Amino acid sequence: MQTAASRQQTQAKWQKAISLAELEERSKAIVKLDGKQILVLLSAGRIYAFNNRCPHEGFPLAEGTLSEGCILTCNWHSWRFNLEDGETLVGGDTLRHYPHDIRDGDIWLDVSDPPPEALRARALAGLREAFDEHDYERIARELARFERADGDPLDALTHALEWAMDGLEFGTTHAQAAAPDWLALRSAIASDDAAERLIPVVEIIGHLSWDVLMQKGPFPIPADEAERFDADVFEQAIEDENEALALAQARAGLRAGGGQSLRASLERASLRHYQNFGHSVIYLDKAYELAGILGDRADAALLLPLVRSLCQTAREDLIPEFRAYGPALAAWDSTGMDAPDAGSFRGKGVDASLKLVRASSGQRQALYDALMCAAADAMLHYDASYREQTTKPVQENIDWLDFTHAITHLNAARKVCAHQPELWANALLQTGCFLGRNAKFVDWEQETSQWSATDNDQLVDDVLASMLDHGEPLYIFPAHTLKVATALKEELALNPDAPWKPVALAALNRFVNEPMKKKHVRRAVAQASRFVELEG
Ligand code: FES
Repeated sequence: MQTAASRQQTQAKWQKAISLAELEERSKAIVKLDGKQILVLLSAGRIYAFNNRCPHEGFPLAEGTLSEGCILTCNWHSWRFNLEDGETLVGGDTLRHYPHDIRDGDIWLDVSDPPPEALRARALAGLREAFDEHDYERIARELARFERADGDPLDALTHALEWAMDGLEFGTTHAQAAAPDWLALRSAIASDDAAERLIPVVEIIGHLSWDVLMQKGPFPIPADEAERFDADVFEQAIEDENEALALAQARAGLRAGGGQSLRASLERASLRHYQNFGHSVIYLDKAYELAGILGDRADAALLLPLVRSLCQTAREDLIPEFRAYGPALAAWDSTGMDAPDAGSFRGKGVDASLKLVRASSGQRQALYDALMCAAADAMLHYDASYREQTTKPVQENIDWLDFTHAITHLNAARKVCAHQPELWANALLQTGCFLGRNAKFVDWEQETSQWSATDNDQLVDDVLASMLDHGEPLYIFPAHTLKVATALKEELALNPDAPWKPVALAALNRFVNEPMKKKHVRRAVAQASRFVELEG
């Protein structure tokens, strides 16, 4: 049903454009009507009226080339439009046409705008095409059109999450995980600048689109639904990596009680193992944060991929380096009363780190602070020479993001443990795994005083604000910067005088100011060649 506003806007608005005689003489004319710049063409006896601004980048179509009577080529980047049926033959966005009428020798145009719902539907259809092709600029254009037609960009985002659902072979990625941090940044934008406020949404949709495109699906999430939701069956299905059963249970849970009905089970599953190098609990925490912003409408699009990712995730506690995690968890009794000390984690491997964590198991808050400090300390002292090394084995491909994850993981785990305190042992021991694993890749002797940011209360906010023009061609890097800065902002808001604050700010300062090697050509080829030689 049309609203009063849309009825008003669909009323025809005929305006005189040019006399037929003049058009016959000139064959084309640009007219300005109702604030619009319209090109009127006479070709092969037919009249066409359409926007003079090319829908690609706005250059004048009056300078284009007409062929076959009705095919117009924009000479800037060769987009082609069929003026007869309105189709864009080469390029993407739709060219707007205007109905015409001839009255008493004059050409009249209907310059009324379509109803907003039609404009939104068209923008959304265009956004879907841009999403499928990862056409970043078009994603931005269609979102701007959607918003101009009174659409809420978060509605468009919800659609994009649904489009991504069946395109992600392993479920949730950093695209969904960084989304609530982008939206927090959006909320913090003080200006009314619509373009500025659109940046976070464009980035999220661009990232989703990229991840889907790179995976070359589809990988449909089955529509099967269990008769009733049973939390034990659901959790066991995830534990057994039985994706079909877990998804069927998840669908039943969503139908019966919405996303919250799955939450406790998913929280337990996200921390049950040291898995996916800490991503699982981050994905879980961020999925619920995003669902809180977007509302129930996004539950399925966020939680079904999350269930898939939990079923498919790599469980590093099964590999030799982290096998001590299971026994340490089984032996956890919250009676360890050693005063935790961040410095004591320096140089300790996984087994020794887990022992240190257990020794302070009865000092939960102090242990948490010590682990946050130790994670930041390791990040501040990352041995950047690793990024230049090309002859090391694959397991030594350690870089900045391995360090930022220790902090982001602990931040997410803290929030999950606020609802599920019995998971603290998992969370703290898993941080011990991070510390032990990263310990080999730090240089404790290096000078770090130049990174001190104790006097810079604005550092975290400045880093976050810089994300709005980050300049990175690959989404994964700004996603990590955004996530670690947001994690520190959240932690410092809770504990402004945290003992680890100086070292965490220095670590962040170094991370955002040191160059990061983002592609390792020589190392990748050397490792591949060595591997192929050994495979026999
Ligand atoms: S502006 Fe017309 S094709 Fe680019």
